[in-house]
Amino acid sequence: MSMLKTILNKVLGRPLSNMASNGKLRGKVAIVTASTDGIGFAIAERLAADGASVVVSSRKENNVTSAVEKLKACGYSVSGVVCHVSKASDRERLIKEAQDKFGGIDILVSNAAANPGVGPVLESPEEVWDKIFEVNVKAAYLLSKEVLPYLRKRHGGSIVYISSILGFEPLGQLLGVYSVSKTALLGLTKAAAKDLASENIRVNCVAPGIVITKFSAALRESKESEELLLQNIPMKRLAVPKEISGVVSFLVSDDASYITGETIVASGGMASRL
Ligand SMILES: NC(=O)c1ccc[n+]([C@@H]2O[C@H](COP(=O)([O-])OP(=O)(O)OC[C@H]3O[C@@H](n4cnc5c(N)ncnc54)[C@H](OP(=O)(O)O)[C@@H]3O)[C@@H](O)[C@H]2O)c1
Repeated sequence: MSMLKTILNKVLGRPLSNMASNGKLRGKVAIVTASTDGIGFAIAERLAADGASVVVSSRKENNVTSAVEKLKACGYSVSGVVCHVSKASDRERLIKEAQDKFGGIDILVSNAAANPGVGPVLESPEEVWDKIFEVNVKAAYLLSKEVLPYLRKRHGGSIVYISSILGFEPLGQLLGVYSVSKTALLGLTKAAAKDLASENIRVNCVAPGIVITKFSAALRESKESEELLLQNIPMKRLAVPKEISGVVSFLVSDDASYITGETIVASGGMASRL
C-alpha cells in the first residue's frame, strides 16, 4: 500500500490526504447510498469537503455511526441514517433525514451494489439474478423516482449512478450477472437524463475500473490474480476510492452544468466501448 501511495502522490502531484476542494458545492444537500466505506465513503467525504451537507447511509448502524463521527471530526456538515437501499421504508427514512436535517435535496449519488454469487451469467441461479437486479438497478430507479419531487422543489438537481467498467466489458466467467446489472445503469442514465433534461435535472454515471476496497478484495486475493488484473490495465495500477470521488464531485457541480446522460469512465485506460 505504501508503494502504491508513493506512486499516486507522484502521479497526482499532491498528498492523498489533501485532495483539492474549493467549496463549489456550498449550499447543496447530497444523499449518498452505501457511503460508510469504500467508494461511497470517499464520495461523501469529497462532497462534504466541497461544501455540501451530506447524508451518509448503509445497512449497519455501527458503520453509519462511525462514518458520521469520522466526517464530523473533519468539521463537515453530515448526518447519517441506516438505509438498505432495497427496503422502501429505509429509503423513505433516508429522504426524510435530508429534508429534516438540511431542508431539501439537490444531489443523489446511487452507489450501492450487491454481488451475492460468482459465475457465468447463464449459469447463475435466478435468486442471484433477482438480488443483484433488486439492489443494483431497481433500488437505483426507485430512489431516483422518490427523490425527484425534492429536486423539482429546488428547480434542478443532479443524480449520479455508480456503474463499473464491467458494464462495458463483462467479467463474464466471474461476475456475469453483476456486469449485466452495471450495463443496465448505463441505459438508466441515458433514459432518465432525456426525461429530466428540460427540468434542469442532470443524470450522469461514473464507471470505475478496479478500485481498492472490500468489494474488490476477492479479485485481488492472491498476487497472481492481482498480476492478472494489472495485465489488462494500461496504467498498471489499481485505483483508490478518492480517484472516483473527484469525478462524482465534478459531475454534480456547476462545472458540469451542460453535461447530462453521460458516463465518465475512470479505469486507468481499460477499454470502455459497448
Ligand atoms: N471496488 C471496485 O473495484 C469497484 C469497481 C467498479 C464499480 N464499483 C462499484 O462501486 C460501488 C461501491 O463499491 P465499493 O467497492 O466501494 O464497496 P465496499 O467498499 O465494499 O463498500 C460497500 C458499502 O456499501 C454498503 N452497502 C452494502 N450493501 C448495501 C445495501 N444493500 N444498501 C446500502 N448500503 C449497502 C456497506 O455498508 P453496510 O455493510 O453497513 O451496508 C459499505 O458502506 C458499487 O456500486 C460497486 O459496484 C466498485
